[in-house]
Amino acid sequence: MIREIQEKDFEKVYELGLLLHENFKTTYNLKELTSKDYFHCLVYEEKNQIIGFLVYTDLSEIVDLVDLIVEPKHRKKKVASNLIDTMITNLKPTDKIYLEVAVDNHIAIDLYQKFGFEVIHTREKYYGEKDAYVMERRITE
Ligand SMILES: CC(C)(COP(=O)(O)OP(=O)(O)OC[C@H]1O[C@@H](n2cnc3c(N)ncnc32)[C@H](O)[C@@H]1OP(=O)(O)O)[C@@H](O)C(=O)NCCC(=O)NCCS
Repeated sequence: MIREIQEKDFEKVYELGLLLHENFKTTYNLKELTSKDYFHCLVYEEKNQIIGFLVYTDLSEIVDLVDLIVEPKHRKKKVASNLIDTMITNLKPTDKIYLEVAVDNHIAIDLYQKFGFEVIHTREKYYGEKDAYVMERRITE
């Protein structure tokens, strides 16, 4: 089941988020952010466990896919694909989605390309020494 985050999920989301970046917990004040209309965190729940989540912000037709992670033992079972599908279903036809991904994260790049995202820009040294691609996907072409 995919649904918006609730307070009871914060701990698990912080735990999973640590796998994405070590300062995840200090970057995200989930209690505060979840009170904002533009902030969304979709969680994937299976057997009462959160096994993945997707964070996006939605402001005036610009949607930023900020974070996406699936617990390692649950990967390759379309959890991320279902999370992206759900986000897209929630969006308006005029929306454009943007994201940044490390240029060597081939798994994520492959996934995003399957969803019609295209590289529109390269941001140099976006992740420390590593470059990032900026990818875009329009809801209606
Ligand atoms: C990227 C990530 C979210 C994918 O989650 P997932 O639930 O395993 O992805 P899905 O099962 O929906 O896979 C969809 C597509 O992604 C690509 N993909 C996923 N895992 C892959 C792998 N191990 N090798 C190659 N391609 C892979 C494939 O194109 C796959 O399509 P296919 O199943 O038809 O081959 C997951 O690997 C992850 O959490 N990685 C670490 C965090 C991260 O990199 N997040 C993105 C930051 S921008």
